[in-house]
Amino acid sequence: MRPTGISGSDSLVRVSRFAHPAGDRHAEMMPQERPPRPPADLNSLSPKIWPRNSARTGGAVTVGGVDVRDLARDYGTPLYVLDEDDVRSRCRDYAEAFGDSDVHYAGKAFLCRELARWIDEEGLGLDVCSGGELAVALSVDFPPERITLHGNNKSAAELERAIQAGVGRIVADSFEEIARLGHLAERHGVRPRVLIRVTTGVEAHTHEFIATAHDDQKFGFSLNNGSAAEAVRRVLALPQLELLGLHSHIGSQIIDTAGFEVAAQRLTALLAQIKDEHGVVLPELDLGGGYGIAYVEADEAPDIKVIADSLREIVAKVCANAGVPVPRLTVEPGRTIVGPGGVTVYEVGTVKDVEGLRTYVSVDGGMSDNVRTALYGAEYTSVLASRSSDARPMLSRVVGKHCESGDIVVRDLWLPDDLAPGDLLAVAATGAYCRSLANNYNYQPRPAVVAVRDGVARVIVRGETEEDLLRGQS
Ligand SMILES: Cc1ncc(COP(=O)(O)O)c(C=O)c1O
Repeated sequence: MRPTGISGSDSLVRVSRFAHPAGDRHAEMMPQERPPRPPADLNSLSPKIWPRNSARTGGAVTVGGVDVRDLARDYGTPLYVLDEDDVRSRCRDYAEAFGDSDVHYAGKAFLCRELARWIDEEGLGLDVCSGGELAVALSVDFPPERITLHGNNKSAAELERAIQAGVGRIVADSFEEIARLGHLAERHGVRPRVLIRVTTGVEAHTHEFIATAHDDQKFGFSLNNGSAAEAVRRVLALPQLELLGLHSHIGSQIIDTAGFEVAAQRLTALLAQIKDEHGVVLPELDLGGGYGIAYVEADEAPDIKVIADSLREIVAKVCANAGVPVPRLTVEPGRTIVGPGGVTVYEVGTVKDVEGLRTYVSVDGGMSDNVRTALYGAEYTSVLASRSSDARPMLSRVVGKHCESGDIVVRDLWLPDDLAPGDLLAVAATGAYCRSLANNYNYQPRPAVVAVRDGVARVIVRGETEEDLLRGQS
């Protein structure tokens, strides 16, 4: 049975443009997953979700001072738009909040040559997790000593390239890799600096954290079953490797900060154990990334200053109790740096009502440019961006053009019921894990990425063409 329908002032909203054939009562009933109530103003851009330099000017949405209609005209749709000042200011927020700790941007969230330059200019380090990401960084002369290489199955070639480039840290993720690193270090006559990735038993999920007793995943060395301690022994046994510290990453889009605190406590306890067993004081502790951002109004993103203060306090306290010096901390934010400054602009192609349920709004992209909704039920919000509207809110689902019914961009949202083909929609907070996870499903070319700042737009990643898609085929 569906939940009860809309009442009172909600009669001003419309679930779909057509009544349900079973009658008015059905037509007023909300769908199974009841969406949030419509916002008071469909035209508003919530500052906690939209880029810092976005606004509605003369009806249309502007980002970085550039009107989305001009962007769509000049660069086509779908289009990724990145508010450069938003991204840069978040880098500075992190640097300020974490003070004398190191902040490394996690390139997997989104990486291109220009973004790597911004990260360098803002003084952050960079995490890469493949030879390809490393190549991007090296191609713009990103200082190798500020690069960390991650990955649960780095190839020998990737490790070799990282060693030859002189990257600052390599995060060891398996016993095989420790052996490979030892071998490569000897061959090249260098002493790579190594962190050990520890699985702390804290399993974090979106919006929650669950402390677990088992570590059922592919990354890292388990703390609980003693693998982490064994990895430390093996690295210390290889004089050609320099063990700098421990690393942990507990998950992503984490709103509740308690999981970070538990992980920090457990890692610090391991540092103390290493000092007792080996007489070695490890100077570094990398606590990973994973801090959440607001995708929809209901999300409460943690304040980065609060996280920074709390992590420092915990590590200092546990170190004092255990009698070990406080290590230098590193954090690896990805989403929080680049997510909120990104917006995807789409053109509406069709507007289809489905019997008293909702209206399906099809746009010219979808799961090829943003697979997160289909992949793990991510939530987004969107507005009519090419004009404002005073029309009634219409319960909508924004869907893509791909041949999958799971090809959903925004599952539940309210759009004005005068929405029509040719209108532009902007989807907020798409800066992270959208372009980096983009694909060519249905031979859809991946859209361009345009950086906007002070009223000027410039392409930082060219959109793909049909020729790009056919290249390399016999
Ligand atoms: C090791 C590591 N560090 C940092 C990150 C960045 O996480 P986020 O973008 O959620 O901050 C990830 C994401 O998967 C990761 O695996």
